[in-house]
Amino acid sequence: MSYARSLANSGIQLANAYPLAASLLLGFGAITIAKFCYRTLSLKRYGAKKGAWAIVTGTSDGIDKEFAFQLAKAGFNVFLVARNLELLDTAAAEIASKYSVSTQTASIDFAKDDDAAYEILSQKFQGLDVGVLVNNVGKSHAMPVYLVDTPKEEMADIVSINVNATMRVTYSILPGMIHGKRGLILNIGSFAGAIPSPMLATYSGTKAFLATFTSALAEEVRQHGITVEHINTYFVVSKLSKIRKSSTLIS
Ligand SMILES: NC(=O)c1ccc[n+]([C@@H]2O[C@H](COP(=O)([O-])OP(=O)(O)OC[C@H]3O[C@@H](n4cnc5c(N)ncnc54)[C@H](OP(=O)(O)O)[C@@H]3O)[C@@H](O)[C@H]2O)c1
Repeated sequence: MSYARSLANSGIQLANAYPLAASLLLGFGAITIAKFCYRTLSLKRYGAKKGAWAIVTGTSDGIDKEFAFQLAKAGFNVFLVARNLELLDTAAAEIASKYSVSTQTASIDFAKDDDAAYEILSQKFQGLDVGVLVNNVGKSHAMPVYLVDTPKEEMADIVSINVNATMRVTYSILPGMIHGKRGLILNIGSFAGAIPSPMLATYSGTKAFLATFTSALAEEVRQHGITVEHINTYFVVSKLSKIRKSSTLIS
């Protein structure tokens, strides 16, 4: 008897002996496979494993570094954007060796809201088949503070990074997505945008902007096969949240 057949027979005997456990395992397995197929097939719609690129902003550290790894794993070439080129290049090299995809990096300080820097960034995207954009870059307050006591520079940086960077990077990749008739844009929000958060008023307001911006843009570009989603994040270990350890409620 072949090894496979004897394994199958043992499985049937076990299932007969423990029908409830077998049903649960079968159900769990079916859900896992269905989830895997759904994810793979749906990302294929946006060019996974077909040479398309995923652009991820704010990728030298934090949540989006993980996004970049997952998108590479799904079969996208990844383009990482943040300020620290050394960290970006290290992450890009790690991704390229682990998942055999192409990578590119670009350094920009979104806080500066500099037209020339946006133009350079936009030129780097030219000619790439961009299937996915993750607008992740974000800045919060150094510490909870009343608006009246917030340093002006901090307020300006939060608006430039959370609002302008999302709009301007989206603006630069949208024509290509419209031309290619497909795309996925993920805007990373925050529970502070859903629940008005005193002492984080500027951050809270910019994250609320993202929710409305996402819904409006999603309607505009649906006709071009482009999906725009808003992801509301709760607590995650990162430099921004200043949370150092994960727990049941913090990933
Ligand atoms: N962590 C949480 O608990 C939490 C909760 C809700 C929502 N979120 C949202 O999730 C997103 C990611 O947060 P995170 O916690 O992963 O943040 P993070 O650890 O602070 O990472 C932010 C990333 O953005 C880059 N960045 C920061 N300032 C920049 C600038 N001026 N120009 C260009 N790049 C810049 C940083 O790299 P460089 O320093 O190299 O530029 C880094 O890669 C944000 O939109 C945040 O609002 C986070």
